[in-house]
Amino acid sequence: VIRVGVNGYGVIGRRVASAVRLQEDMELVGVAKKTPDYKARLAAQRGIRVYAADGESVERFSRVGLEVAGLLEDLIRSVDIVVDATPEEVGVKNKPLYVKASKKAVFQGGEAPDVADASFVAQCNFLEAAGKQSLRVVSCNTTALCRILHSLDQAYGVRRARVVLARRAADPEETKKGPIDSVVLDPVEIPSHHAEDVRTVLPNINITTMALKVPTTHMHLHSLIISLKSHASASSVRDTLEQTPRIVMVSAADGFRSTSHLVDFAREMGRPRNDLYENIVWQDSIRAEDGEVCFFMAVHQEAIVVPENIDAIRALSGRFTAGESMLRTNRSLGILK
Ligand SMILES: NC(=O)c1ccc[n+]([C@@H]2O[C@H](COP(=O)([O-])OP(=O)(O)OC[C@H]3O[C@@H](n4cnc5c(N)ncnc54)[C@H](OP(=O)(O)O)[C@@H]3O)[C@@H](O)[C@H]2O)c1
Repeated sequence: VIRVGVNGYGVIGRRVASAVRLQEDMELVGVAKKTPDYKARLAAQRGIRVYAADGESVERFSRVGLEVAGLLEDLIRSVDIVVDATPEEVGVKNKPLYVKASKKAVFQGGEAPDVADASFVAQCNFLEAAGKQSLRVVSCNTTALCRILHSLDQAYGVRRARVVLARRAADPEETKKGPIDSVVLDPVEIPSHHAEDVRTVLPNINITTMALKVPTTHMHLHSLIISLKSHASASSVRDTLEQTPRIVMVSAADGFRSTSHLVDFAREMGRPRNDLYENIVWQDSIRAEDGEVCFFMAVHQEAIVVPENIDAIRALSGRFTAGESMLRTNRSLGILK
């Protein structure tokens, strides 16, 4: 059994901790947190050991009567692998703690690529993780793009990809972030950072990305235009994507016309926290013409990296193939196929 600690219990950390608890080959030793809020109380009620991120947090927890199991350093000492899910650029500051304790670590996409030995998307480069000390699970948008581009590149060869990303401006609990009534170019300059981030996993892909923030909290929406090296009809592209793990097709005929319908779908399926771990592609949007394929895809930013974190833990353990790990992860999370 792989003993796992999760440092950071926010949007990503909470989900990764829950997913670790579902794995037969993993044990969640505990989670580390700074603030003694409702999330800490609920974790304790669910039998999760909560550790304080630092000395100051210990006092804050004790002032509100919440007992902690120890300090972050205690958690690190008791695990085989740490998943760092702290805010962007905090992970790099925690790295010396993991190195000092000789513990392997999984970082998130908010960190710069050089925080870890490799950037990671399970279906693209699982085997490259063997023998590494740390991995960086790339961001939600990059994870989704890598799944798609790796699949199409293997099937047809990708000559070049052009992607416009309409990004959710904030996560649901980020009440201080906007915009409320604007579409913000993010950034004005092209390409956005996503193109370079894709190449940390798929170095040979020719890609340009353009990003804008839209006033919504629940999903990103990508518009993709991809030139292929060999001929592909719309139906063969659909078949290829349908056979790719963690990519799911929906259609307007079934009532899916917006990201809101996808959130509703997740609720109806009874998914925990309404999570969609899969890339969602509108099959009726797929159009192939003159060697180019276009389609729309939605990405649930809070959830899509959760299976990749679980696979990153197994990849670092060095005891699994990509297929074995992904199958275990997919089954435990009820990933659609
Ligand atoms: N949110 C997304 O949609 C998303 C998607 C993909 C990847 N990511 C990446 O995942 C990582 C985590 O993001 P997140 O959205 O999960 O963050 P978040 O919701 O803000 O949660 C961060 C957690 O880290 C804890 N923490 C530890 N040290 C901290 C410090 N020095 N300052 C502030 N908080 C600290 C916080 O504690 P308290 O809550 O106790 O204060 C909180 O539990 C980032 O690299 C991000 O880029 C995020």
